[in-house]
Amino acid sequence: MSEQLWGGRFSKTTDEMINEFQASISFDKRMYHEDIAGSIAHASMLAKCGIISEQDKQDIVRGLRDILAKIEKGEFSFEVALEDIHMNIEKRLTEAIGEAGGRLHTARSRNDQVALDTHMYVRRQVVEVQRLILDLQKALVETAEKYSDVIMPGYTHLQRAQPILFAHHMLAYFSMLCRDYDRFSGAYERADIMPLGAGALAGTTFPIDREFVASQLAFDKIYMNSMDAVSDRDYIMEFLSAASLLMVHLSRLSEETVLWCSREFSFIELDDAHCTGSSMMPQKKNPDVSELVRGKTGRVMGHLMAMLATVKGLPLAYNKDLQEDKEGVFDAIDTVKFSLAVYAQLLRGMKVNREVMHRAVTEDFSNATDLADYLVKKGMPFRQAHAVSGQAVHSCIEQKKWLEDMTMDEFKKLSPLFEADVKEAILPETCVKNRNSLGGTSYEQVELQLELAKKTMHRQTEEIAGHESKQKKIE
Ligand code: ARG
Repeated sequence: MSEQLWGGRFSKTTDEMINEFQASISFDKRMYHEDIAGSIAHASMLAKCGIISEQDKQDIVRGLRDILAKIEKGEFSFEVALEDIHMNIEKRLTEAIGEAGGRLHTARSRNDQVALDTHMYVRRQVVEVQRLILDLQKALVETAEKYSDVIMPGYTHLQRAQPILFAHHMLAYFSMLCRDYDRFSGAYERADIMPLGAGALAGTTFPIDREFVASQLAFDKIYMNSMDAVSDRDYIMEFLSAASLLMVHLSRLSEETVLWCSREFSFIELDDAHCTGSSMMPQKKNPDVSELVRGKTGRVMGHLMAMLATVKGLPLAYNKDLQEDKEGVFDAIDTVKFSLAVYAQLLRGMKVNREVMHRAVTEDFSNATDLADYLVKKGMPFRQAHAVSGQAVHSCIEQKKWLEDMTMDEFKKLSPLFEADVKEAILPETCVKNRNSLGGTSYEQVELQLELAKKTMHRQTEEIAGHESKQKKIE
């Protein structure tokens, strides 16, 4: 018989290289807290249902709390020979408390145990990610409010298109992050389902109480099919897909940051403390944070693809392939959290170059639509007005000047509908003010967006606090 926890059927212990290949302790040890909390709930349930004695339960709980304290003090040595976090803890418990330790795994398999730990871990991390999303949303709102009067060109095809409020641009990212936040709420809901009690795949012969375990561990729902419980990794793929989309949004923001702080744009200035220099070129100040966030997006997307490919084609129920679920999601969690935190800091240190942005809308033709709209309001069909405004732009380009430099005579020659008020109508401030359709860039609409943003953040803050207080009740 081999020494291993499952050694009864074996006459040899596992080959060292094979064991190193299949062990997961190097990464699943980060779920020690969930593993111990899950085991305490399981042991309590076993005692409550008369499956183990009250004394055994007390010994188990004490032993597990000791192990938790040791791990947290860094005094626990994890052994690769014991494969994973589950067997590392169980073996140590049994060494410490004897026979009672051997009763802990009654009515349980590592298949439902690892599913439980991972659900709890992801569920907790979702809330931490949501808190960081909220903080980045706050930073966007602060930035929008700080520069609420600043006008800049809005772009299509990376060509100047129409004047917009800088705040409107910031709040576009706020909206994207709202959807990200909500997608993580979906991932939370799917992580908040309790798999324990599924056993290896088919349930157990013992009279267990799954509702009790679920309430101990603050789960809202229980898996109602034991095979699904041990095979399901949807919540991980949902987390990774929410994380990928979030990173795609951060990557777009990063790209704009990189562009805007280039000498060519000079729209913003990043804080010196948030940039790095070059070892060779003394003049350089590089936006590494944004570039790295943009770069790390590919890595998170890769974890999603890896997981989809791993699960695709797997027969029910547990297969060791599923152990591959952890490293990707752990790395995605770390990457997303770090990226969100650094970006909030970057935005808070960012300065907007009002003069340059202003010049970019005054020395430009981004008011050409407004010139056409002016004629339409005087009765001309839009298609015709578009052509007149186009001719105005064309002749200004030839004369090397802007629409606002045109004389009244020149305007009149293009259309008798032009009057003195045209000058006012094509000022960037007017262009912005007049785009007052719902969701538009006008001062009034942006003010409304800010109000809605604050309401959303209030709802999110309460939701996060609710989840956190629910989870605090767990051992
Ligand atoms: N370390 C394993 C994992 O992460 C735990 C479950 C192992 N179960 C098994 N029957 N080999 O998936």
